[in-house]
Amino acid sequence: MKGSFITFEGIDGSGKTTQLKKLAESLERAGRDCLLTCEPGGTPLGREIRKAFLETKQDVEPLAELLLFAADRAQHVKHLILPALAAGRIVISDRYADATTAYQGAGRGFDLELIKSVIAIATDGLKPNLTLFFDIDPESAVDRMAFRGEHKKNRMDLESLDFYRRVREGYLNIAAAEPERFRVIDANRSVDEIAEETLDIVTEHLKSV
Ligand code: ADP
Ligand code: TYD
Repeated sequence: MKGSFITFEGIDGSGKTTQLKKLAESLERAGRDCLLTCEPGGTPLGREIRKAFLETKQDVEPLAELLLFAADRAQHVKHLILPALAAGRIVISDRYADATTAYQGAGRGFDLELIKSVIAIATDGLKPNLTLFFDIDPESAVDRMAFRGEHKKNRMDLESLDFYRRVREGYLNIAAAEPERFRVIDANRSVDEIAEETLDIVTEHLKSV
């Protein structure tokens, strides 16, 4: 594999999408070729899957949710991420497999071994080279989401504070287990301060690629 695969993670409202755009602008100014993508919904099929279960008023079975995120990911890996990496591009994804460990594992309570197997099948073993976790307390994230407005709400945005506390713990457990790949960034700061640290970490990482 050439290129580098970088993922952004965080609970909803942590500010990761804002940071992803700022990072991409900086990297592109520096002449780097980046592919920006996201999960769920990085491919046309993925966008249909995302709509079907995130933008629905139906009661979605947790196992169905787990498998639909996996289906979205399988398509994303094979159709978009792997070809871009093979072409030597930097792929930056707004969420990837760690979101399943945090949301479906820690948040919904699925067994972590089952989660690992589902992720392994969906990704065919593809792991990010670097993951940035934008860490914020759930109360502040919920305030930010409220500010973002009603129109962007999906089913997950309507979860309880307790759910987001568990998801955050899930992410912090990954950070403890994989400190080399998984970097924690304090997201309770200004957009510019966070963007500066993000760019520093990514620039350092790209030197080693
Ligand atoms: P996410 O992609 O993690 O859900 P967004 O980047 O969409 O988060 O940000 C959620 C909301 O918070 C948006 O309205 C955004 O403008 C705002 N926001 C992002 N970063 C910050 C920050 N550092 N401080 C205050 N508000 C922020
Ligand atoms: P979306 O609006 O696409 O993303 P964001 O809030 O990051 O802008 O919402 C996606 C939701 O799906 C978000 O709440 C996180 C959740 N999710 C999972 O529960 N498991 C997963 O594997 C992924 C990729 C996302």
